[in-house]
Amino acid sequence: MSKPFYVTTPIYYVNDRPHIGHTYTTVLADVVARFHRMRGEEVYFLTGTDEHGQKVEKAAAARGITPKALADEVVANYTDLWQRMGMTHFRLIRTTDQDHKDQVQRLFKRLLDKGDIYKATYKGLYSVSDEAYVTELQAKELQAQGLAHQLVELEEETYFFRLSAYQDRLLAYFEAHPTFVQPDFRFNEVKRFVEGGLQDLSISRTSISWGIPVPGDEKHVIYVWFDALLNYLSACPGNCWPPDLQLVGKDILRFHAVYWPAFLMSAGLFLPETILAHGWWLMGDDKMSKSKGNVVRPDTLLRFGNDALRFFFMREMQVGHDRGFSYEGFMDRLNADLANGLGNLASRTLSMIQRYRGGLVPMPSVLDEQDQELATRLLEVFPEYLEKARANDFHAALDALWSYLRALDGYIVKAEPWKLAKDPANDPKLDAVLANLYRALRATALLVAPVMPGLAQSLWESLGHTDQVGARTFHGFALDGPAIGPIGESKALFQRIDKEKEMSELEAAAAPVEAKPTLDVPEIRETVDAESFFKVDLRVGRILEAERVPKSDKLIKMKVDLGIEQRTIVGGIGKAYEPDQLLNRLVVVVANLAPRKLMGIESHGMLLAASDNASKPYLVAPPDDAQPGFLVK
Ligand code: MSP
Repeated sequence: MSKPFYVTTPIYYVNDRPHIGHTYTTVLADVVARFHRMRGEEVYFLTGTDEHGQKVEKAAAARGITPKALADEVVANYTDLWQRMGMTHFRLIRTTDQDHKDQVQRLFKRLLDKGDIYKATYKGLYSVSDEAYVTELQAKELQAQGLAHQLVELEEETYFFRLSAYQDRLLAYFEAHPTFVQPDFRFNEVKRFVEGGLQDLSISRTSISWGIPVPGDEKHVIYVWFDALLNYLSACPGNCWPPDLQLVGKDILRFHAVYWPAFLMSAGLFLPETILAHGWWLMGDDKMSKSKGNVVRPDTLLRFGNDALRFFFMREMQVGHDRGFSYEGFMDRLNADLANGLGNLASRTLSMIQRYRGGLVPMPSVLDEQDQELATRLLEVFPEYLEKARANDFHAALDALWSYLRALDGYIVKAEPWKLAKDPANDPKLDAVLANLYRALRATALLVAPVMPGLAQSLWESLGHTDQVGARTFHGFALDGPAIGPIGESKALFQRIDKEKEMSELEAAAAPVEAKPTLDVPEIRETVDAESFFKVDLRVGRILEAERVPKSDKLIKMKVDLGIEQRTIVGGIGKAYEPDQLLNRLVVVVANLAPRKLMGIESHGMLLAASDNASKPYLVAPPDDAQPGFLVK
């Protein structure tokens, strides 16, 4: 038996319900899975949930339930959504499944016996919100952002994975496998990271109890990423190893392109063929986050149909890049491409075949230059689509197909079939036009079946077929073959969306549900006496100059007027503010903070900013009539 095509999604954390980011990855995987089935391959498509770790443990404790009960509750949101969306995965693996837990312990033991896992003491700064140790540079950045309170100094006994031993082997592998990570610009980032040097990785925790215990040393729990990555292995039945395509978001690429291959090398297993990192759906230029109240949930979009959402995702997102989401853009795309575009073309063609040929698709006898040109373009666009889709570039594949559909509209306008129909002398030309249009639609139904299974089937049936289009294969499909019988009943493929009406309904419906941000802040810090507090000298300042610090997207260098003197201050506010927005702004400055160097620049003071763990920093602003130099007390 030949090896099935094995495609995976990341496994989703169970600290939130699915949003369109998670939905996008799973849709992409499902489209890829269906596409490969229609290439005649057997396919394993895996998705799942990542259920261990401190966040789940804490969230469950806050609600007074067990972590497993919390996970069960959230997982139901995923299973239900995937089912409603008709996803064709063969398993939704949960990291709490027994076979997975066994697998993780087995592999841990194997690498321990081999010497690639060893026990030692780790000392360093740990970020509570990221559940990870941070490097010195990361710690400095957090401090500059005023987020130092997220860091705790930890010293613990931990198991390490000997990642450093794999640096050269990874680089050699990358060299020999130039398409291992896609797209290229992400692969380059990964290479640069590895070239920068790899440190051994701490892969166990004693501070957490919700996880898989280290075999034989149960006070240690295996670190979530070691646990999570192995899901792909646990769920591989029989001969599906290695994965052909692993889809991940750009934020988790390093785990998949560096740690994961190193684990596999250590275990003596084959590496995945390709890891494809996609970009993010943003809201405008912003990240979607619960605290901003701008999270888009799939159900809001699914009322326009599963096919519509799938099509939108595939057509709009150029895999690898970020893409801004807007409800208007969503509706515009569907109206233009599905209600107009394809929908319009199908209903015009079918009604002409009905009206002029009693529902029977003619076989053309002669083709003039125009007919020939359109027929040839179909022979070109079909393999072009397949090639692009094979490279997982559904954006480009659909783009090519839709530009062909637009050419067909032009062809109809030029040929004017409604005029041809008036004179039997034009019959050969009318036959050619109708046959060309029919063939184009038939090929379209076949090609888009992985993307829009429902809509493709409905078009397929309108064209007179009674079988399942998704069960067909692309290979050997006779593009110019005759129709198998009379055409079927023509159904509207996609109902035009009344944008204005929907927008106002969406605004009304979405606002109250998502608008209330949850506050993600640490506990109030320990009490200090007034004397200690008053040692801090806070002053009103005015920003006179601001510029970005080269090679840093966070740091901004400012000249600040404190009334009695001017200061150079470097602040970690570059992701929240453009330098221009800062000019002339009144701020509160910690004026007696010991100077320190940030990226080589000495900073004399710090600006006060307000934020929670999830938000950007908001500069604290004194009233407009306050003067630089005023003491804040
Ligand atoms: N549990 C880890 C993955 C472990 S895989 C062995 C995790 N889970 S997650 O739920 O936070 O994210 C899952 C995926 O959703 C990631 O690939 C992430 O990139 C993706 N997305 C989260 N927000 C997104 C958008 N706004 N847009 C597109 N995808 C995004 O990370």
